Amino acid sequence: MKDLDDLAAIHLKSHALGKSSRTKWNVPITDFARLTHNPIRAIVEGLKIVPNPDKQLIALSIGDPTTFGNLKPAPEIVDAVRRVIEDGSSNGYGPSTGFLEARQAVADYVAYQGTVTANDVILCSGCSCALDLCLSVLAGPGQNILIPKPGFSIYRTLAEGFGVECRYYDLKPDKNWEVDLLQLESLIDGNTAALIVTNPSNPCGSVFSKSHLKAILNIAEKHYLPIIADEIYEHFVFPGHEFHSVSSLSEKVPVLSCGGLTKRFLVPGWRMGWIVIHDRDNLFRDVRKGLANLSARILGANTLIQGALPDILNNTPSAFYDDLVSTLCRHAELAYKSIKQIRGLRPIMPGGAMYMMIGIEIEHFPEYDTDLEFVQALVAEQSVFCLPGQCFEYPNFMRIVLTVPENMISEACKRLHDFCEKHYRLDNNIIETCQHGLMV
Ligand SMILES: Cc1ncc(COP(=O)(O)O)c(C=O)c1O
Repeated sequence: MKDLDDLAAIHLKSHALGKSSRTKWNVPITDFARLTHNPIRAIVEGLKIVPNPDKQLIALSIGDPTTFGNLKPAPEIVDAVRRVIEDGSSNGYGPSTGFLEARQAVADYVAYQGTVTANDVILCSGCSCALDLCLSVLAGPGQNILIPKPGFSIYRTLAEGFGVECRYYDLKPDKNWEVDLLQLESLIDGNTAALIVTNPSNPCGSVFSKSHLKAILNIAEKHYLPIIADEIYEHFVFPGHEFHSVSSLSEKVPVLSCGGLTKRFLVPGWRMGWIVIHDRDNLFRDVRKGLANLSARILGANTLIQGALPDILNNTPSAFYDDLVSTLCRHAELAYKSIKQIRGLRPIMPGGAMYMMIGIEIEHFPEYDTDLEFVQALVAEQSVFCLPGQCFEYPNFMRIVLTVPENMISEACKRLHDFCEKHYRLDNNIIETCQHGLMV
């Protein structure tokens, strides 16, 4: 009672004194907003992207599979949404973690990850919202998280606002982008809150083997580190590769698996993602509560899509998934074969997802000091735009997307060839010799 009296007294006093000393408008923003930024946007906005007006722009930079209209969602899922709109059953609010039927549908869909019930599923506004909730529940100011390099930039965007330090573990390009396990382990300390594993990977298109995932899990188990598994590209694997969910390979390490409709169903704008909580011996009891609390901040995910979710997940024909993966694989092979022939470029064949990383032997392009300068000149001359590796904390590489139509991939490879042939030099002496007019 006394506390309430004290509070009331303070309140009255502050009113009486007219406490504000403001004399003019000044509307500051929070540290949270100030520190939150998208590194890709910052880098791309800093580039001079001026395509050659004589050539149509081929944007190999956009990770949205709907951009070119060549990849369309299955008619079954469009019908499912249409039905929900027409019957008007999902126009209202739902529970903030999602409707039971929708969560149950996800639980059934991800049964391959381990034993999952509807109570283990939280529906979110896309996979990025799922990642946001996972990071927010596990990591706070002064703590650190481990993220892959090269890696998807959103982890940094989400963490830095909270004052959470990002520590980068290396992926090895000459080992199909496997994790440098020793270096990963060396980053862990008492303030490490979580390990993020992206499999299959954006930007690498790599798919970890079962044994490699187990090696990562062993490190997490040894250091009592929960894993956030970004599995938005689940099942996007090319022949010769197999997808294993992180959670299916350990009974000890608690895992939050993040997924959604975005990529596999070709509907990023529908904003439907999810977290699947893989608890071990009730270790995630508080995390489960915390995630439910956090989900209240947005009053739940889009209910229209939730209403359609059981039909979306149950009625999409397996031929749809198979066709999508074989298209991506065909595009990957086409791009890889052509780019491998180009002097100065080193493509790394992906095993899945929808991207390919290409090494730039920058020492053979003496006109350019960085991947940024290289991609800028490429777009200016050939109207082909690739995302520079620096967007993924990985200089001297660039990333291309494989969802663009096949004819555009062929044309882009031809233009890449022309660009590199024009600017490639065996070594710096040769360009100097050229510049001095001693060679033609
Ligand atoms: C690895 C990865 N995780 C998460 C996301 C975000 O997915 P969503 O659009 O469902 O938020 C993306 C999008 O490109 C991604 O590549």
